[in-house]
Amino acid sequence: MDKEKVRVPDLPRMKSEGRPIAMLTAYDYPFARIFDQAGIDVLLVGDSLGMVVQGNDSTLPVTLDEIIYHTRMVARARRRALLVADMPFLSFQVSSEQAVLNAGRLLKEGGAEAVKLEGGVAIADTVRRLADLDIPVMGHIGLTPQSVHRMGGHRVQGRRSGRTAGSRERLIDDALAIEAAGAFAIVLEGIPSDLAAEITGRIGVPTIGIGAGPHCDGQVLVMHDLLGLSESLLPRFAKRYTNLWQAAGEAASEYLGEVRGRVFPDAEHSYGRKSA
Ligand code: KIV
Repeated sequence: MDKEKVRVPDLPRMKSEGRPIAMLTAYDYPFARIFDQAGIDVLLVGDSLGMVVQGNDSTLPVTLDEIIYHTRMVARARRRALLVADMPFLSFQVSSEQAVLNAGRLLKEGGAEAVKLEGGVAIADTVRRLADLDIPVMGHIGLTPQSVHRMGGHRVQGRRSGRTAGSRERLIDDALAIEAAGAFAIVLEGIPSDLAAEITGRIGVPTIGIGAGPHCDGQVLVMHDLLGLSESLLPRFAKRYTNLWQAAGEAASEYLGEVRGRVFPDAEHSYGRKSA
């Protein structure tokens, strides 16, 4: 495993060298340590925490202070990975000045090395302002969960037919605008593989896909999906690599049985003489 610290300029370099980028979300110290040790390139403190950690049905309630709180935990755990923090709903849309102050807090108080913003052409000026001030920006276009109400749910965007037909050109314009504004990478979420391939071929900065097929320069998954840490059925794009929900349930049931049966704690797990 590569031990070198991953920094912002490494991501565009990885694209030009054809080296795939692996990114995962993380929200706390232990999982951030595990993923960092495993060699994951980028850790994202995503506003998905509103759903997978807080149990909300959208990311909209997440506050900047909550993202900072979780980013600090991940920053303490991270040695090698690049640390990116999400800018939550209404932390960057009102004005570029507010975006600068809030992004600055994520770097200053949270320890993030870059911020991620959802949106395309409409936020390009804000991305430019941040990038001009040396606050590295990762873009995020396609299925942008902060736009859940406009999209009418968490729906795939940019299909050739159906409700979002016609948005393919808009998504290409979004990607070009965010790249031109100075983003160093762009997340493509919930778009058809052929559109992701076209965008990936047309921009110089890396694309990192989630539900965007195999042609992106990198991939990102929400850690709860990767680890099977949710009750609900996964979306088609998400691959469950293990089932921690089941393993944790089994451990809790076994413990419950042992407490009720006075099996735990035994002598080995008690202080004093280890006699029967
Ligand atoms: O909030 C998040 O976890 C994200 C990823 C899904 C890219 O934005």
